[in-house]
Amino acid sequence: MDSPAWTTPLDRISVLEQDRSLLNLMTIIRDQTTSDRDFSSAVEKVVRRLIASALNHVPAEEHTITTPLNATYTGVRFTKGVCGVSILRAGACMEQALRDTWTGPLSFGKLLIQRDEETSIAKIYYSKLPASITKDVVLLLEPMLATGGSVIKAVETLTGNGVPEDSIVLVNVVSSRKGLDVVSGRFPGLKIVSAAVDMELTAQNYISPGLGDFGDRYYGTCA
Ligand code: URA
Repeated sequence: MDSPAWTTPLDRISVLEQDRSLLNLMTIIRDQTTSDRDFSSAVEKVVRRLIASALNHVPAEEHTITTPLNATYTGVRFTKGVCGVSILRAGACMEQALRDTWTGPLSFGKLLIQRDEETSIAKIYYSKLPASITKDVVLLLEPMLATGGSVIKAVETLTGNGVPEDSIVLVNVVSSRKGLDVVSGRFPGLKIVSAAVDMELTAQNYISPGLGDFGDRYYGTCA
């Protein structure tokens, strides 16, 4: 007999199905004429899908219940908690979708990572992680994967705090081809869920065609 679908191994790197409704949302998000308000509303819909997909990486077991018709139903229940770790500031916009989507034990951590202007090396400025994080599946929340510098620093921080590399799922809206290659090559156990992969990076390390500065558009801080 075939194994049930939920027990089949998942791809380590997955891109959401490029169906019509996702492509419509991505077109709104990428359009420079979209207002900040419509941008954030479309982003939230995409992030819900990303989080739902990322949660497929949480281990589960078969679980049988009785329905109101006194019939039995065999489904699944998750066997681990989840910790969402946002890379500030943009990653914080993904937290609410995780709160709304996940039904089990949930905690949050925050990382503030910035590039040192002299050395260009990504540096941690603030880190607050829950004690339970080593036992959880960690969703690392970062909407834009450009060069990979911040994500590398974030994954190093998490593993340095005892989180196994293969318990981390990077959740992002748009990745650059280069960022994806760099990060997946550096961390072979890391899982990645993305809504789109763009081929180019500009000289200023913006993803192209991209969507511009994610944080400025989401938080309405464009000049
Ligand atoms: N961060 C952004 O907000 N946009 C990019 O294109 C790359 C990194």
